[in-house]
Amino acid sequence: MISLIRLGIALGPCLLLFAVALLVNADTEQRNWEIFTEMQYSVAHEAFGGALYDVLPNGQTLQNEVPGTVARGHAPLVLNPPAGTILASFFDEMRYAGETIQMPAKLRPLALAEVPEGFDPGAEERKVLARGQKMFETYCLVCHGELGSGKPGPLVEFGVAALDLSPLTAKHPDGTLYYIISRGGPARLMPGYAAQILPEDRWKIIRYLRTEEKPAQ
Ligand code: HEC
Repeated sequence: MISLIRLGIALGPCLLLFAVALLVNADTEQRNWEIFTEMQYSVAHEAFGGALYDVLPNGQTLQNEVPGTVARGHAPLVLNPPAGTILASFFDEMRYAGETIQMPAKLRPLALAEVPEGFDPGAEERKVLARGQKMFETYCLVCHGELGSGKPGPLVEFGVAALDLSPLTAKHPDGTLYYIISRGGPARLMPGYAAQILPEDRWKIIRYLRTEEKPAQ
């Protein structure tokens, strides 16, 4: 009798493992046993309507923005010329933007006297420029090519090529460059990137552009 119990203790776990092995599909191409399915099959909510789910009282799952407010980091670009100043063309707007829009103080290169104690401006500078370069390579390089070397971007194969920016940017103040990135190129061939690139990143692109700038011709 005792030996039978011993046998049971020894074989029981083996049989259990065998049963589990049979249930669990070893074929990695096949879908396996699913126990908690909520994570695999999450419900797709209709963000702004549908009234399917009882998340918000009006049937939405996302809140509308509060009227009269602006989402953080998404300040719209508005030129507000004083009465009497007429901005008749895109060139007028670019010029006006250059005169009135300034790079935020925290993104401007610091003069030596402004550097707070214990602050490493070099590290900060490298971070800003690295981000600017990354954004440039993501959004601008396809058309404008590599900054500085002028090596064309990949779209040149499809007949799309824009000028190397390094000899062009010196003639534009920061505000004008910001305006061009946000609204598009003066000849209206380049689209605006306000929807894709956050304001802070647009300024960082400008910081990066300045590092490879060639004197205005
Ligand atoms: C789809 C291609 C394309 C992309 C992407 C693109 N550009 Fe342009 N860009 C152009 C073309 C074409 C022009 C010249 C024609 C025009 O003004 O629209 C131009 C003009 C410019 C000018 C004006 C140069 C001058 O003095 O005439 C600047 C500055 C500029 N681009 C910056 C950028 C920056 C920064 C980015 C990335 C955020 C970018 N562009 C992305 C095609 C592009």
